[in-house]
Amino acid sequence: MSTTAAAPESHLAEAGHASAGPGAGEWDAASLLRRFDEVRGHTELLAAPLSPEDQTVQSMPDVSPTKWHRAHVTWFFETFLLAEHEPRFAPFQDKYWFLFNSYYEALGPRFSRPDRGLITRPGAHDVGVYRGNVDDRVRDLVASLDGGSLEQATATIELGFHHEQQHQELLLMDVKHVLSRNPLQPVYAGTRLTPSEPDGMGWFDVAGGLVEIGHPGAGFCFDNELPRHQQWLEPYRIADRLVSNGEWLEFMADRAYERPELWLSDGWARAQEEGWRAPFYWSEHDGVWLEHTLHGTWPVDPGLPVSHVSHYEADAFASWAGKRLPTEGEWEYAVVVDGQESAVAGNLADLETYHPRPATPAPAGSRLRQVYGDCWEWTQSAYHPYPGFQAPAGAIGEYNGKFMSNQMVLRGGCALTPPGHARATYRNFFPHRSRWGLTGVRLADGGAPAGARG
Ligand SMILES: [Fe+2]
Repeated sequence: MSTTAAAPESHLAEAGHASAGPGAGEWDAASLLRRFDEVRGHTELLAAPLSPEDQTVQSMPDVSPTKWHRAHVTWFFETFLLAEHEPRFAPFQDKYWFLFNSYYEALGPRFSRPDRGLITRPGAHDVGVYRGNVDDRVRDLVASLDGGSLEQATATIELGFHHEQQHQELLLMDVKHVLSRNPLQPVYAGTRLTPSEPDGMGWFDVAGGLVEIGHPGAGFCFDNELPRHQQWLEPYRIADRLVSNGEWLEFMADRAYERPELWLSDGWARAQEEGWRAPFYWSEHDGVWLEHTLHGTWPVDPGLPVSHVSHYEADAFASWAGKRLPTEGEWEYAVVVDGQESAVAGNLADLETYHPRPATPAPAGSRLRQVYGDCWEWTQSAYHPYPGFQAPAGAIGEYNGKFMSNQMVLRGGCALTPPGHARATYRNFFPHRSRWGLTGVRLADGGAPAGARG
């Protein structure tokens, strides 16, 4: 992580942390190391299409260089695992603790986040050497532990898995922005699907009432998903799919970016200040809207979910449509009632398109489509602690809790979310203005007055 309230790592990526997840007792040394190699290897797989130059650029303050992500997740294992458990611990390089600490105040001073792109040494190759050193030491450590010491280290290692997965998603979001700034429009990887048209949007009626929200206790979760608690939900409806690019084109054609009555005041001000007139990666050429993706720049596909819109834009769209955004409690409860508390289906870790896809039928026995993957879904819920939340003691307590201000909760995961990293209770968070994340919109209705603000 990282961040100030506005920084990306602060967002989700670094938003989570660990804790409470049971799970430590479910691993043995062999399965732990197998998973360690999978997670570490996936990061290198994602970096493989990128040159050392690609991996060095920081195209805006919210973006971190690829090689920084690769080093920082390594620093995380070195700092929170090896420094704690390794006999005669010594850091790989003293200065790396300064360079690759993201936002942990308790661990001392760190390098300026907006200046990460100025660091040319260590280069991408040397970061690989650092990764290899820490990987070897983690393997040696796990092989040397048993009983209670292994169980204690396992909790940290499991957190390190989920932390690195958060950065895998960020790495791709950041590379997308880096490549978007190049007028040659280079392609990261992947292919384009045949263009499509959106199908009808259906609605799922939920009775509401006194329900339970939050992680139920089995398996890993971040501390911000706890404690499980009760919420009262009025009866509501939630859309069965995400808002499409085709619907967003209608929103634009109705001059919605020029109509302040549809927008939150802060959103209207930000839209004027930054000249918003379309989603973040859209550009108009000879009357045709194009979209930059990791697999190239193409005409906007009407059948795909709209992506890279801010919370402000999502809210304005809902207002224009006479609907609203769901609360995070409504989203989570609807997903559970629909039988999708586990991410058994969804466009996650899309290594073919690196992009959202058109809605497909819901899993057997369910109604809601595109619950997991495609786009992180904005909610109307501010990112606040659940009743009774307590951050863990020590530096690791900075993982999530200190970002619970001025950010909004998103649910569901996106096409760049790694496998095994999505669940009904997962709380991602970004500032309202954020557009660089792979974020989209699901509408809700009922429960609260719809479209009243306009
Ligand atoms: Fe991090």
